[in-house]
Amino acid sequence: MGPGILLGIETSCDETAASVVRNGTEVFSSVIASSMEEFREGAGVIPELAARRQVEWMMPVIAQAMTEAGVEHGSLSAIAVTKGPGLLGSLLVGTGTARVLSSLWDVPLIGVHHTLGHLSSTWLGTGDAPTFPVLTLSVSGGHSDLWLRKSHTSGTLLSSTRDDAVGEAFDKGASLLGLPYPGGPSLANMATGSRSRFPFSLPLRGEDTMDFSFSGLKTALRYHIRDLGDRWVEHRHDLAASFQEALCAHLLDRVQKALESNTVRELHVVGGVSANARLRELLSEAARKHGVTLRLPGKPEYCTDNAAMIASAGYFLLQEQPDRDHSEFSTAAQLSLAQALSA
Ligand code: KG4
Ligand code: ZN
Repeated sequence: MGPGILLGIETSCDETAASVVRNGTEVFSSVIASSMEEFREGAGVIPELAARRQVEWMMPVIAQAMTEAGVEHGSLSAIAVTKGPGLLGSLLVGTGTARVLSSLWDVPLIGVHHTLGHLSSTWLGTGDAPTFPVLTLSVSGGHSDLWLRKSHTSGTLLSSTRDDAVGEAFDKGASLLGLPYPGGPSLANMATGSRSRFPFSLPLRGEDTMDFSFSGLKTALRYHIRDLGDRWVEHRHDLAASFQEALCAHLLDRVQKALESNTVRELHVVGGVSANARLRELLSEAARKHGVTLRLPGKPEYCTDNAAMIASAGYFLLQEQPDRDHSEFSTAAQLSLAQALSA
C-alpha cells in the first residue's frame, strides 16, 4: 500500500471525534466535540444524552476534520471507525455514518477495536518508528491491561484487571473526595499532599500473577474517609496523594514484573490514565532501570479518546492484515479484549 490517508471516526463514549491521518502517524486534523460538560454535575455519562449529541455533531465534526486537513474524500484510502466496545447507541452513530460515507464516497471501510486505537496512539505525530517487541500498559476508564506486542496489530494479552479499571478507581476515588467528573484529572490536581500519610496495601501482593485489582484500594479510601469523620476535608490533599500513589504503585509493580519476565525493546503507556504525571514519573524511572525506551502519546489529547488513534490503527490493519475483509464487522457494546490484536 502506498501513502495512506485515512479518515478516523470515534464515538464510543461521550465524544464525537473525527481525524485525518497519513501513514498512521502524520495527524492532518483531529477534531473532538465532547458532551462531558453536561455530565460534570452527575456521576458520569448519560448514554441517551450522549448519543443524541453525537447524532447532531457527527457530520459537522467530520466536515471540520476534512476541511482542516485540506483533504477531499477522493484522496482517502479508507475510513476507519470504532466498532466497539463502548456505549451501543454512541457506537452506532459512528459506524452508521462511516458505512454511509464509505458507500457514498466509494472508500473502503475498516472496523477498529477501541483498544487497538489506544495501542496505536503512541505513533501519532512521531516520525520515529518503534522497535518491537513492545510492552504496552493500556490504562483507561475501561481498561488496565498489559500487552506484549510483536507488531502493531499482533501480540498477546499478558494480564487484565480482575475488577475495576484504574481510570474507574480514579473516578470513584474522586467522587468519594467530592471532586467533579472525570475524576482522574481532578484527583491528580488535588494530590499535592503527602504520598505516605495514609496507608494502602499493594493489591494481590504475594500472588504469582500480573493481574490488576483496584476495588480494594477504593474501599480502603472509603474507610480512611469514614475514620476521619468530619475532619476528612482538612486531609483531602493527603488522601488524594496517598490514594494516587497506591494506584500508581500497583501499576508500576505489574510493569516491573512484566519487564523482568519478558524481553522487550520499548515500554508504551496509553489510554486516559497515561496522562497522569506521577505515573509517568514512576514509569520513566522503571524504563531507565530496565534499559528500555519509554513511549507515551505525544500530546495529552492522544491519551484520552480521539479519532486520530483509530485512523492510525486502521492504517496498520490495512498494512499488516491486507487479506482480511475489515468492512465485515458488527458494532458491539461488548467486544473481548482478545479480539483487539491477532495472536
Ligand atoms: O481513554 P479514556 O479517555 O476513555 C476510556 O476509554 O475509558 O480514559 C478516561 C479515563 C477516566 O477514567 C479519567 O479519569 C482518566 O482516564 N484520566 C486520568 C487522567 N486524565 C484522564 N487519570 C489519572 N490522571 C489523569 N491526569
Ligand atoms: Zn478509550
